[in-house]
Amino acid sequence: MATLNPIDLSGLNDERLASSVRAQIAEACEKNGFFQVINHGVPVELTDRLKEVGQMFFDLPKDEKLVYAGKPVIGAEGYGSRMVLNDAEPKFWREFVELHTLPLSERHYNYWPQQPAEFRETVEKYTLAVLDLAHRLLAVISENLGLKPTYLKEALGETHQNIVFQCYPPCPEPGKTLGLPEHSDVGGITILMQEGDGLQVAAANNTWELVPNHPNAFVVNLADQIEIITNGRYKSANHRAIVNSDRTRRSYVTFYHPAKDQKIFPAPELVDAKAGPMYRELFYIEYLQALAAGRFGGKRLVQSFAINNPLVS
Ligand code: OGA
Ligand code: NI
Repeated sequence: MATLNPIDLSGLNDERLASSVRAQIAEACEKNGFFQVINHGVPVELTDRLKEVGQMFFDLPKDEKLVYAGKPVIGAEGYGSRMVLNDAEPKFWREFVELHTLPLSERHYNYWPQQPAEFRETVEKYTLAVLDLAHRLLAVISENLGLKPTYLKEALGETHQNIVFQCYPPCPEPGKTLGLPEHSDVGGITILMQEGDGLQVAAANNTWELVPNHPNAFVVNLADQIEIITNGRYKSANHRAIVNSDRTRRSYVTFYHPAKDQKIFPAPELVDAKAGPMYRELFYIEYLQALAAGRFGGKRLVQSFAINNPLVS
């Protein structure tokens, strides 16, 4: 998948290159909603420090990590682990820390590790820089669709940003276990930094394509609300994380969600007058409730918000 070759965002600041970079982003969004970027403006000192504090936290003894344990429900904050070999499908093999970073009123510092000491400051700086990148990408993506640059940012409303530190330790049965099973991200846009190969994206003919780990690159993927707002023009891609038997893999995933009471609907400019909208209007809370209920009959969750439209697949 050629679109997984990193797109060099420094070209956006150069008049001679900007239109080509925009076109590369448009092509990647159109084809599979998954791409990598380099020269993205998040300083390497910050990405390095984030990886360092993440590793230092996961290396702590279990009882020190459990101080930050969260409830075992989707989207709950705090530390958790799911290391199951002999369970029913789907299997998981990961430890994680999930933190809400925005809005500030939802920052619950009691879940934020105090070890290592620079954890909190590093996460605050990193997520701010990633937020800025998300806004720059949303502006390019909006304009690529013929919308005003602020369209997607406004359509997603007040930003609810989370960061999840994922840690996939070596697994004795990597062939039978997944770090994270197949899913699409439910929010707006996700920006992921990985250390080590293991992320796979759904490709043609029911195959999986490895998203190669490039130093200093971010993986960007469009999530379900962008699929709805773009009226299906851009699809959210299914992906998963595999594990291996010999080394720990970590990833740092920043999610950009709408507020729960945000109304999400296809942009009128992207709705064909004859065919009508492909998805119904919804409040984001309904989407989260449907996710928690977990009954999507083997289909993608976003399909349950499709209006009886044969063009939605
Ligand atoms: C996720 C995700 C993949 C990875 O956290 O939603 O898809 O490689 N993670 O950790
Ligand atoms: Ni994901």
